Formats: sequence, structure tokens, C-alpha cells
Amino acid sequence: MEFSTIIKQAHSGVAYLALIFLVIVVINAFAGMSGNKEFTEKDRKLGLFGLIFTHIQLLLGLILYFVSPMVQSMGVAMKDSTMRLYALEHPLINIIAIVLITIGWSKHKKTADSKGKFKKFAIFYTLGLILILSRIPWKMWLPSLFA
Ligand code: HEM
Repeated sequence: MEFSTIIKQAHSGVAYLALIFLVIVVINAFAGMSGNKEFTEKDRKLGLFGLIFTHIQLLLGLILYFVSPMVQSMGVAMKDSTMRLYALEHPLINIIAIVLITIGWSKHKKTADSKGKFKKFAIFYTLGLILILSRIPWKMWLPSLFA
């Protein structure tokens, strides 16, 4: 199998893990905030997994950007909205999203109280998740949903 195919399949697979954990962190953060719950080790671990999988996805995405045959045909890409999504919007917006998630992670560490920690996750992970969801090439990823 070609290198670019292996990386693409890994990027398609890790996408599930990254999204699942981001959704869980966001729901958990809002629940913790509104229920005035104590921020425990379980809450920290969830945030950490969300961070780790998005960073793995960033790494795979960066490699993919340089080896993907799809992106290499960039010359004509900008005229076509699907190609523009792959070549420009998806990478750019997702990098911004992952930066926001990383900021949320480091801000939660500097915050002492439970409510503040949940709030940092609620704000930054939610923003990151919304940005990521807005630029996923859904039809390419889950074609069966659109059949
Ligand atoms: C958490 C963040 C991200 C998620 C959830 C995500 C998810 C996805 C998904 C679901 C696809 C479609 C795969 C398929 O067709 O089966 C895709 C394609 C792609 N992604 Fe990402 N991605 C993320 C971040 C990034 C970043 C940061 C980059 C680049 C720096 C990137 C570069 C690419 C490229 C180049 C493709 C198209 C590859 C091809 O079809 O040859 N992604 N991504």
C-alpha cells in the first residue's frame, strides 16, 4: 500500500477518536460547570485524551498535506469548492481549532478552582470542535450518509 494511502486511512480513523473525545469533553465540561461539580482526575484525563488525539490528527494531517495526491493538484484546486476545502480551508481552520484546544488545556492548568477549569474546557474545546465540524469533508469521509 502506498504511504499516502496509509496516512490517509490513519487520518480518517483518528478523526473518529478526536471527535468522540472532543464531544465528551464539551458535554462533561458544561455538565460540571452547571452542576458545580468538583474537577477530578477523570475530568483531567478526558481533556488530555481530547488534546492528544487532536494533536495526533494535526501531525497526520500535516504529513498528508505534503504527500496527498489530492493536494498536489492544487493548481486547479482553488476554482473548485471541494478542492478548496481540502487544500486550504480544512488544514487552516483545523490548525486554528487545535491551537484553541491547546490554549484551553494550558489555561485549565493555570486555573485553581473546579468551576474555572470546566469553564476553560467549555469555552475553548467547544470553539475548537465547532471549527473542526465546520470544515470536515463529510461526503468524502462518510459517503454512505449521503448516498
Ligand atoms: C482534529 C482535526 C482534524 C480532523 C477531525 C480531520 C478530519 C479529516 C477527515 C474526516 C478527512 C476525510 C478523510 C477521507 O476522505 O476519508 C480529512 C482529510 C484531509 N485532512 Fe484532515 N482533519 C483534521 C486536521 C487536519 C489538519 C490540521 C490537516 C493539515 C495540516 C489536515 C489535512 C487533511 C488533508 C490534506 C486531507 C485530504 C487527504 C486526501 O484525501 O488525500 N487535516 N481530514
